[in-house]
Amino acid sequence: MKKQWRILFFLVLIIFSSLFIDQLFSTPINNSADSKINLGRYLFFDNKLSYNQTKSCASCHDPQFAFSDGYRKSVGADGENLRRNAPSILNAKFLKALTWGDSSIHTFSQQMIFPLFNEHPKELGWINNEKEIINRFKSDPFYQTLFSKAFPKEKNPFSTVFFQEAIAAFENKIQSQNSPYDQYLKGNKKAMNEKAINGLALFNSEKLGCYKCHFLNVSQQPLMYVNTGLYNLDDFGSYPASDQGLYELTKNTNDKGKFRVPSLRNVLVTAPYAHDGSVETIQQMIYIYQRGGRLIEAKENKGDGRSNKNKSTLIKGFTLTDKEQIELIEFLAALTDTSYLRNIQLINPFNK
Ligand code: HEC
Ligand code: HEC
Repeated sequence: MKKQWRILFFLVLIIFSSLFIDQLFSTPINNSADSKINLGRYLFFDNKLSYNQTKSCASCHDPQFAFSDGYRKSVGADGENLRRNAPSILNAKFLKALTWGDSSIHTFSQQMIFPLFNEHPKELGWINNEKEIINRFKSDPFYQTLFSKAFPKEKNPFSTVFFQEAIAAFENKIQSQNSPYDQYLKGNKKAMNEKAINGLALFNSEKLGCYKCHFLNVSQQPLMYVNTGLYNLDDFGSYPASDQGLYELTKNTNDKGKFRVPSLRNVLVTAPYAHDGSVETIQQMIYIYQRGGRLIEAKENKGDGRSNKNKSTLIKGFTLTDKEQIELIEFLAALTDTSYLRNIQLINPFNK
């Protein structure tokens, strides 16, 4: 009886492994998944990706700024400003929808169409230049090797979809959750000082209510679009016409000024703030919440955001002592994680 079982076991084993034998010999040891990520990383950081070879994804998503860019509004390959501030894409894999105001964009490949093909202004300028840009890579022996390793089964991997696939594979790897706050959660009580611990309590307090929108656990952040009262141009809750947030998709006036709640991970290295980069410092950002909306006293965006009719009822304003403000900022600083800068699989492969 025992012997029969053993024979059966080996029989199953042989049948099972024969299924894989073909793959064992046809693909190299370092598998195509890793090769795809590696190719994606090179593309992400390579200026050849833009029509005039001046910009790459990393120009606006630089590891030094937690994969954002430090500008109020990003600058495209043709030198023009985009209309929005570049978000950090660290841990973007966990986001339920991508970009500041469009709840219909769910995958990296889908999102990538915008930087590649946007026309006004151009980000990377693939429109009308797609062939030429792709040929640039196709004729480069270095990329010939990278592409054939990443897509061993494709006869011609030099087409846009494979660029998207490789870059998306790399974006999935842009993850890191190793801030002092994370270490504190894991039980290292010394990772945060007393001020930061008090700041965490304020963040989670009913008075401030930050926790109600900004989830600290990146994978648990629900998809929320909120008007925080940054502008108020009329009686209909309007933000500047150039950018009304979720309203552009839904055309529902109640959605004017609603933007996706951003992650506060690494927030101290991602200034300036908000969808249009119009808030210069973290102190100003906190002041806007204290006031319950932003007051703009002059010029074209004049208006009191506090009375914006679409503003969330969770933004009511509160008082904060100087000591409390310092503690809150100390806590936000404890969300800074730079450990990924030592991960050579995430940083610029051209800086050797
Ligand atoms: C010229 C600057 C610029 C370039 C180049 C650029 N981006 Fe962006 N990126 C932005 C801005 C600005 C946004 C916000 C867009 C919005 O909300 O409408 C953004 C948004 C994103 C998002 C969504 C993040 C989120 O929080 O929802 C991802 C992912 C992303 N970019 C990846 C890329 C990749 C990959 C490339 C290269 C193929 C790239 N970007 C090139 C400026 C840029
Ligand atoms: C009702 C939901 C809500 C609450 C409560 C809230 N926020 Fe926000 N927060 C948002 C949204 C939405 C944005 C983006 C707004 C925009 O760009 O128009 C934002 C933006 C920010 C930003 C800028 C982030 C960036 O990358 O640009 C910071 C910093 C911030 N909030 C901190 C806080 C703090 C601190 C508190 C508590 C005092 C708080 N928030 C409470 C919804 C909220």
